[in-house]
Amino acid sequence: MSDQNAKLELGGKISEFPTRKGTIGPDVVDISSLYAKTGAFTYDPGFTSTASCESKITYIDGDEGVLLYRGYPIEQLAEQGDFLETCYLLLYGELPTKAQKEDFDYRVTHHTMLHEQMLKFFTGFRRDAHPMAVMCGIVGALSAFYHDSTDISDPHQRMVASIRMIAKMPTIAALAYKYHVGQPFMYPKNQLDYSSNFLHMCFSVPCEEYKVNPILARAMDRIFILHADHEQNASTSTVRLAGSSGANPFACIAAGIACLWGPAHGGANEAALNMLAEIGSVDRIPEFVARAKDKNDPFRLMGFGHRVYKNYDPRAKIMQKTCHEVLNELGIKDDPLLEVALELERIALTDPYFIEKKLYPNIDFYSGITLKALGFPTTMFTVLFALARTVGWIAQWSEMIEDPAQKIGRPRQLYTGAPQRDYVPLAKR
Ligand code: SDX
Repeated sequence: MSDQNAKLELGGKISEFPTRKGTIGPDVVDISSLYAKTGAFTYDPGFTSTASCESKITYIDGDEGVLLYRGYPIEQLAEQGDFLETCYLLLYGELPTKAQKEDFDYRVTHHTMLHEQMLKFFTGFRRDAHPMAVMCGIVGALSAFYHDSTDISDPHQRMVASIRMIAKMPTIAALAYKYHVGQPFMYPKNQLDYSSNFLHMCFSVPCEEYKVNPILARAMDRIFILHADHEQNASTSTVRLAGSSGANPFACIAAGIACLWGPAHGGANEAALNMLAEIGSVDRIPEFVARAKDKNDPFRLMGFGHRVYKNYDPRAKIMQKTCHEVLNELGIKDDPLLEVALELERIALTDPYFIEKKLYPNIDFYSGITLKALGFPTTMFTVLFALARTVGWIAQWSEMIEDPAQKIGRPRQLYTGAPQRDYVPLAKR
């Protein structure tokens, strides 16, 4: 608690509310007693000024373009670590020792297979089903198979569910991709590292040897690190809210996947690539920039803007560097989409409208080009985002469950509907 109280004058009465200081970042005013003291609610659609919880996991400074996982800058983790090390850090709060990392990697590796009967679920979908629809369905169905890790009051079961989710999401994502493209399912190979295994399950086929390109596997791993967690974004808040009712972890993650799918959130990487393809050439950029500025046109530049970052998204810079590494490794020279992206970024960063509204490229702007170069169809982009974000959702869900102050989330409203009125029988209407 800090020693300053916030004072609010409402209806001629002054009420005081305690304030709290974080380790870094904005203070908060604890308004949990506001309704009891004043009979009024706060009103904050979109939660632009609302801290929904206390957390020790991820910190974002939107003005400075800073992103920390458990205090470590994303740039250092992406350059020096690997995704499973980041998973350990997000889950347990500290970087693992060598022995801890080996044990964690072993546990994740030995949970990558899906219950064989679940493979039948995939064949129930149309081949052209969007892979995100498949992922929502399969992840929600995990609670029908893994009953021994759904009791959220048991720390051991919570840990097993966490490991299972991190381990099985690449397998589910790869199965959804293989089903989508009509190729046979490929099983995980335990001798491969996490991201190499994922590329193997997606791109190898039974009829020939498949050698994972280590540079592409490293790029995939870095993309997973960049997407692992991001404070209380929409999908994480969805997982926390679902979890606050006591729902099982698989159901909560399925809810997070559904929320992430939206084009304003995780669906933006797919939408950004589709937008670049629609723009098609550099000379059409001004037409689209004008549409983005037009208040009467709902069009927005996908991959630009962010609720928190009012500076460059630090992940976008690393994503841009990774994009060039992948294109160079694959010998993709003048990619027309990259040409449009680079020119669109240059224009947007110099245009007064975007500067005034602090609209910078976000992580989704470059991830689509990179994922397309790696061989994924645009429909798989948000699936990969969900794969990586699962550890963040799980870590935030665990933190919420373990928080002694946590209770079911139940926001109130400003009611502007009809006042009470009596029923009118049909004959009299
Ligand atoms: C992710 O929250 C997270 O952390 C999310 C995420 C994560 O890791 O979990 O970072 C992942 O979701 C990244 C964001 C991906 N979405 C997109 O790229 C879609 C395009 N961006 C916009 O839809 C928008 O910028 C949001 C949704 C990201 C943020 O919207 P806000 O904070 O609600 O801001 P806003 O809609 O109120 O916009 C502020 C102004 C508006 O103009 P005015 O009404 O003030 O005149 O900026 C304009 C908007 O019209 N604006 C844009 C724009 N984004 C905002 N104008 C043109 N193009 C855009 N992309």
